[in-house]
Amino acid sequence: MSLSNLRCIGLLFVFNLFFGTDGYYLQMQFDCIFSRKDLQDIKFAELFFFNKVEHVRYNSSLRKYTGYTEFGMKCTQILNSDPAKLAEEQVRMDSYCRRFVSLVYCNILEKTAEPYIKLRSLKPVSSKHPALLVCSVYNFYPKAIRVMWLRDGEEVTFDVTSTEELSNGDWYYQVHSHLEYTPKSGETISCNVEHASFPQPKVVDWGMRPPESKPQATVARKNSLSGRKVEQ
Ligand SMILES: *[C@@H]1O[C@H](CO)[C@@H](O)[C@H](O)[C@H]1NC(C)=O
Repeated sequence: MSLSNLRCIGLLFVFNLFFGTDGYYLQMQFDCIFSRKDLQDIKFAELFFFNKVEHVRYNSSLRKYTGYTEFGMKCTQILNSDPAKLAEEQVRMDSYCRRFVSLVYCNILEKTAEPYIKLRSLKPVSSKHPALLVCSVYNFYPKAIRVMWLRDGEEVTFDVTSTEELSNGDWYYQVHSHLEYTPKSGETISCNVEHASFPQPKVVDWGMRPPESKPQATVARKNSLSGRKVEQ
């Protein structure tokens, strides 16, 4: 590393070290931008700010630094002429982004929590049909879910109303679907739930009430006091 290079990097850090407590503010920002788990399309940027002004940015697509101020441009001249420095950035992209991204995938993007499903009968609100069933699906994550009604295995599309996916405020969601119907003897009415946490759709039949499935949450549950229970 040349002497001038050292000085440039030194300036960026020394302010923080010696004057940080007197109100100077150095900020470095790392951006890992990707859309695939294998990170084939990863892009990386490293931004240097001093007192909220961006001076220098490294961009992995350009494979070089760009200066945004007079000082920044002086730095980039030096930095860009140093192949070792540029190679170091590519290594940093790999080590920093890969580690971080794998954390994001296993802790956020691929997290699922299996809901528990409750089927019950309520007094109908309208007089159109004599029966009303409610399928309540509690404590699932992520939000995307599909709840539908089956009558002898066939999807029922009439006289069905559903709430939106309601946030509990603690990562979990709940949804409630209502079916108004006229019972026929011998038929089976079921609530069918498709969710990322199930390998295949879960079907709960009315009349043959299974013991309520306990939530098998893989996301740590927060204190239930913070959760909102919406009973419909
Ligand atoms: C990096 O450079 C590419 C190509 O010019 C540009 O599209 C992209 O927005 C830049 N990224 C950042 C974070 O500046």
